[in-house]
Amino acid sequence: MPGSATQENTMKSQQKCIAVFALVCCFAVLVALIFSAVDVWGEDEDGVTEENCSKNCRIVLVENIPGELSFNPNSSAHLPLAMGLNHLLDQAKRSVEIVSPYWTLTSTDQGSRLYSSYQGQYLFQRLLSLKSRGVKLKIVSDQPNSTELKSMSDRYAEVHYVNMTALTRGRLLSSFWVVDRKHVYIGSAGMNWKVFSKLKELGVIVYDCSCLALDLHRIFSFYWQLQYRDYIPSIWSKRVTAVFSRDKPLQLRLNNTDASAFVSTSPELFCPKGRSRDLDAIRHVIREAKRFIYISVTDYLPLVNRSFRGTPIVRYWSPIDEMLREAAVLREVKVRLLISLWTHTHPLTFNFMTSMQALCTGLPFCSIEARFYRAKEQIGGFQHRINKNKFMVTDNAIYIGNLDWVGSELAFNAGAGLVIQESENQQEGQDSIVEQLTAAFERDWFSPYTISLLSGSTTPQESQHGRQKLQSLKTKAESREHE
Ligand SMILES: *[C@@H]1O[C@H](CO)[C@@H](O)[C@H](O)[C@H]1NC(C)=O
Ligand SMILES: *[C@@H]1O[C@H](CO)[C@@H](O)[C@H](O)[C@H]1NC(C)=O
Ligand SMILES: *[C@@H]1O[C@H](CO)[C@@H](O)[C@H](O)[C@H]1NC(C)=O
Ligand SMILES: *[C@@H]1O[C@H](CO)[C@@H](O)[C@H](O)[C@H]1NC(C)=O
Ligand SMILES: *[C@@H]1O[C@H](CO)[C@@H](O)[C@H](O)[C@H]1NC(C)=O
Repeated sequence: MPGSATQENTMKSQQKCIAVFALVCCFAVLVALIFSAVDVWGEDEDGVTEENCSKNCRIVLVENIPGELSFNPNSSAHLPLAMGLNHLLDQAKRSVEIVSPYWTLTSTDQGSRLYSSYQGQYLFQRLLSLKSRGVKLKIVSDQPNSTELKSMSDRYAEVHYVNMTALTRGRLLSSFWVVDRKHVYIGSAGMNWKVFSKLKELGVIVYDCSCLALDLHRIFSFYWQLQYRDYIPSIWSKRVTAVFSRDKPLQLRLNNTDASAFVSTSPELFCPKGRSRDLDAIRHVIREAKRFIYISVTDYLPLVNRSFRGTPIVRYWSPIDEMLREAAVLREVKVRLLISLWTHTHPLTFNFMTSMQALCTGLPFCSIEARFYRAKEQIGGFQHRINKNKFMVTDNAIYIGNLDWVGSELAFNAGAGLVIQESENQQEGQDSIVEQLTAAFERDWFSPYTISLLSGSTTPQESQHGRQKLQSLKTKAESREHE
């Protein structure tokens, strides 16, 4: 029958149609999947490229020194952190990008009522007022429950959350700003009212430096795109890969001196193609040191702590220890470590420090010294004047990071760092960033707030005295630990 033949034909073509449609669907889904992983669109970069970004930059050291600390009046004062950040906001014309481990600028806890927190409040208001100037405010955080961030995103800011628990079971401790893809801040201070009053913080602001800003912005973009993800994609957009690195640093001018610079990140999982790891940055700066290495960090501990199926496993984590030992013993570079003594100081810190110092016994040109910077405890167990600095300075370079030099921190937490190395033939008498940071370190080192672990000399009485002091330090820290 002719009728049924036509019917059959129609059915066949319908089936074909369905098959083709299914294929197209599959293809579309595949394309969508690939695109979502690769993230082809990326973030807009304002047409700035590594060829035409600006390399003629200015750098300023910013610090917060708690009011009750008094240093030698002759030691140089640097721009107060609050002033520096407010000045950065003055400059903003188009965008402000911030990543911070905390958002407690307007906290109403006991401490903030007792101590001046107006600078935090003021900064918070200024961030919100960016709206009236038409400046975009973008924030990345790993704290989904921060009330301050909720109120900011309700009022103006674009906030992306990174689920660090799913990614590395660590924290997002990065702390930097990128303003107009041109100016940057990086340092120890996050967005907490205490960083402007009660804690000792240090960072740098680099102005008119779109080359550096471009690279730091890419780290920001990387975090930005981790929103809602519980894995790190294996293929990335070019817009998050490194522009400069340890092997290919940015050549720039900083306050009219020639220098090279690059940014680094942690953990390794967060380093897309070409990005230097924090550990590589630290290694580079230590290896390049000729005369001295000064390190100022809150915590130093060569251990990695990880729980595996509920059982805690602790491993010795040697990379930084090895680098320092090699520098001191084999290259005769003077090493000084300034570590904070506070409630969270791990008791084994003292053992590791003692072992470092003992390494130089009997070697006339070897010198490793460790000192502890004492925090002060006040009302309500609230710790003050903790040295939160996280930097290293050598005779020719600086490294300013976000993380403490603790194995677990560098292995699982996210942070960023900045390395600046000055070229050798610097003009005499120029107060460079390396010199300024060295002076800041020496000011702290020789201040009345430090205690040395053991005296460098090894006469029997002195080492006996040192041992007693060490024992009392340890007991103190342990009893605090158990409080
Ligand atoms: C840099 O170069 C790109 C293309 O090469 C161009 O689109 C952009 O406008 C340039 N930017 C500046 C600031 O000159
Ligand atoms: C500060 O410097 C002046 C002159 O350089 C010196 O006389 C004075 O002793 C110094 N003060 C301190 C506390 O070192
Ligand atoms: C955030 O708050 C919700 C409920 O308010 C709670 O279930 C969740 O555990 C909190 N998450 C974190 C990371 O604190
Ligand atoms: C983050 O990821 C963990 C593990 O995948 C999950 O249990 C948790 O709910 C996630 N947190 C948020 C805020 O989505
Ligand atoms: C760089 O110059 C600015 C002003 O132009 C100044 O405030 C800053 O202290 C200088 N930085 C260094 C490291 O000399």
